Amino acid sequence: MSADDQALTRRGTVLEERGPGPVRVALPVNGTEHAVEIEPRVSLLDALREHLQLTGAKKGCDQGTCGACTVWVDGRRVLSCLTLAVACEGREVTTIEGLAEDGALHGMQQAFIAEDAFQCGYCTPGQIMSAVALLEEGRTGDEEIKEGMSGNLCRCAAYPNIRAAVRSVRDRA
Ligand code: FES
Ligand code: FES
Repeated sequence: MSADDQALTRRGTVLEERGPGPVRVALPVNGTEHAVEIEPRVSLLDALREHLQLTGAKKGCDQGTCGACTVWVDGRRVLSCLTLAVACEGREVTTIEGLAEDGALHGMQQAFIAEDAFQCGYCTPGQIMSAVALLEEGRTGDEEIKEGMSGNLCRCAAYPNIRAAVRSVRDRA
């Protein structure tokens, strides 16, 4: 095996070398199979926004510091600006567009409205995706909510209302 092949080997599986030009990537998003032609260097955020026209996840910093781009991969929250789309092939991606069911807003979306938990709304999709996952992780204490949401920045400083919305969903559960 060549040095290059060894570098591509993980746990006995030889990974297929792809790129650097566009490659076909199967991307299941919100329960629908998609296929995009992208270079392997394309982030999940850009694949969603620019190739699938799913613009709910927002590009704030594009370097992993603001949380505006938060989506779920296999049910876990990730920063889609720091995640390669090609690494999500065959995994279930969920975005804010996939949260409502049968036209009914998710309870967390309703709580953000009820608690007036946004102003400009730019950070809100990321806040909501993070908040739902946070409660599902079992981090339900007031301090855990505060700490667990600290990676989602809000330039409008709606933090008290955001935390109130998360607590209200927790209290209804
Ligand atoms: S855009 Fe991804 S963390 Fe800011
Ligand atoms: S509501 Fe404006 S950035 Fe959060």
